[in-house]
Amino acid sequence: MTEYAVLRMGDPQLHRVAEPVTRFDDPALPALIEQMFAIMRVERGVGLAAPQIGVSLRVVVFAYASRADFPDCETLPPTVLINPLVEAVGEEYQEAWEGCLSVPDMRGLVPRLRRIRYQARDAAGTPFERNAHGFHARVVQHECDHLDGILYPQRIRDLRTFGFLEELAGSGRLTHGALPCEDRY
Ligand code: NI
Repeated sequence: MTEYAVLRMGDPQLHRVAEPVTRFDDPALPALIEQMFAIMRVERGVGLAAPQIGVSLRVVVFAYASRADFPDCETLPPTVLINPLVEAVGEEYQEAWEGCLSVPDMRGLVPRLRRIRYQARDAAGTPFERNAHGFHARVVQHECDHLDGILYPQRIRDLRTFGFLEELAGSGRLTHGALPCEDRY
């Protein structure tokens, strides 16, 4: 894997609106996707958006293998979303704890739409559409926010529910479908 750095909160590149992908025959695209999956595995991420590694393109990857002790987080097969669009299905929001590779060692309680429909193109440029709810919907919303320059702390309603993972876990406050501590979005 070539050198990479996951940008951290405070870097202005994380707050840019990323550009749509227009050329699906560009060999740089599969290379980018492969690198994003590799970084995600190394960093134990559930998802990664291209702007987090300084590439201002509307590309997201995610994947998750479920664990019996965290039943709220179901398995998500490796997925690539290019130029994704997310729409609400209903108006119900659900709060759960999120972390982010760009906001290391912290967690926050974030409201997200419980049900969404999303459409995107895959790595080959083929359009597809899916319905998602719960954890799956949360991951997609978190990653797609990155494409619009939004980090999860901007979504937190009460900043008393934002803090260091160690303190939150130590005081027993990580509930509501928290991810395993070592996993981040
Ligand atoms: Ni993130």
